[in-house]
Amino acid sequence: MATPFQQLWRPVAGVLGLLGIGLALVIGLSAPEPAPEPPPTELGDGAPSPFLADRAEPILPLAAVAGIDADKMALGRKLFHEEALSGDGTVSCATCHDLGRGGGDARPRPIGSGGAEGVVNTPSILNAALGFRQFWDGRAATLEDQIDEPLHGPHEMNSSWPQAVSALGRDPAYQAAFAMLYPGGGITAANVKDALAEFQRSLPAPTPFDRFLAGDGSAISGDAKAGYKLFKSLGCVACHQGTGVGGNMYQRMGLLADYFADRGGVTAADFGRYNVTGREEDRFVFKVPSLRNVALTAPYFHDGSAGTLEKAVRAMARYQLGREITAGETKAIVAFLESLTAPPQIGGPGS
Ligand code: HEC
Ligand code: HEC
Repeated sequence: MATPFQQLWRPVAGVLGLLGIGLALVIGLSAPEPAPEPPPTELGDGAPSPFLADRAEPILPLAAVAGIDADKMALGRKLFHEEALSGDGTVSCATCHDLGRGGGDARPRPIGSGGAEGVVNTPSILNAALGFRQFWDGRAATLEDQIDEPLHGPHEMNSSWPQAVSALGRDPAYQAAFAMLYPGGGITAANVKDALAEFQRSLPAPTPFDRFLAGDGSAISGDAKAGYKLFKSLGCVACHQGTGVGGNMYQRMGLLADYFADRGGVTAADFGRYNVTGREEDRFVFKVPSLRNVALTAPYFHDGSAGTLEKAVRAMARYQLGREITAGETKAIVAFLESLTAPPQIGGPGS
């Protein structure tokens, strides 16, 4: 069942899906890839929502997550922190996706099993469930599919399913929990993935900006409101939009200025989506990241090259929009982005 909050926004969501595509086309971007089906339009009791006329926004509010199986989520949370899933028993998902650090690791690139360094920045886990695909280059379709890679990755957990399943099987508490929640299956790769994914689906949480979108004008500061106006008028919303404020399309890094020429030292990890499709037009193309909780997850970009949010915002204006923005504009946009931080909660940031 959708909450009344979700029902209220359904009609708006349909209109906004189209607006988003229109906007992207106007400024000459490719249309969002597999745009999600617009939600069905229904107006509840038939009365037009008072929000419809004047509150059509490119960013959609996030309601509290519903329909989570609390027991599977709790099991998934334990597995997320379980070092026995790694080959040498020292690395868990939370080693890199630290819930106390915005779901990331606060490093340009992660350190995994045996001290090996990864090749791209660790994205936050807090908003992954909102993304249309997983990974910077979108190579995994679902949260469940995504797990195979960190589990096996020599730079990550350096393990295998038979090894992980047998390590969990040595713990009677896991045996009991899996037997209860997955009758007939018990501890299997598929059930471990299911529980981990359920935990990750529970993480997206409403923020002050969501309260602002729902009509509470006092939920965010004056600076943040000014920043949101700029975020729209400059064109950031052409790419960072929808419920995730990103996570629903691919775009090139360096659309209007050559980011990689300026940075230098290009490696295969910079090729992005090209590594998946082999199509020349996908070189340097990445999934647009969600900006929810972004204030918690410095450093930024797939290469971890922007040390602060200010630097990331100025780089975006330069390379994606072809503009230099002032210190005041940058400050306002940062204040807006800070209003996208969810408060610490059970199972979420800070816990
Ligand atoms: C050694 C550090 C490390 C460990 C351990 C790790 N991850 Fe990650 N995770 C990363 C990095 C780096 C990426 C980005 C990789 C890429 O896009 O190519 C990532 C990407 C992801 C994504 C995609 C997020 C997005 O927005 O696209 C999810 C979901 C995720 N990890 C979940 C997990 C889970 C679940 C585990 C445990 C089974 C785990 N990770 C273990 C570093 C790690
Ligand atoms: C043309 C599409 C596009 C536009 C317009 C755009 N962005 Fe981005 N944004 C991206 C992509 C793609 C990335 C990932 C780039 C990378 O990692 O190399 C990104 C990354 C970011 C990040 C870093 C997120 C993280 O977790 O590392 C921030 C912050 C950001 N954008 C803010 C903005 C702001 C503010 C604006 C407007 C001034 C803006 N973006 C305009 C596509 C866009």
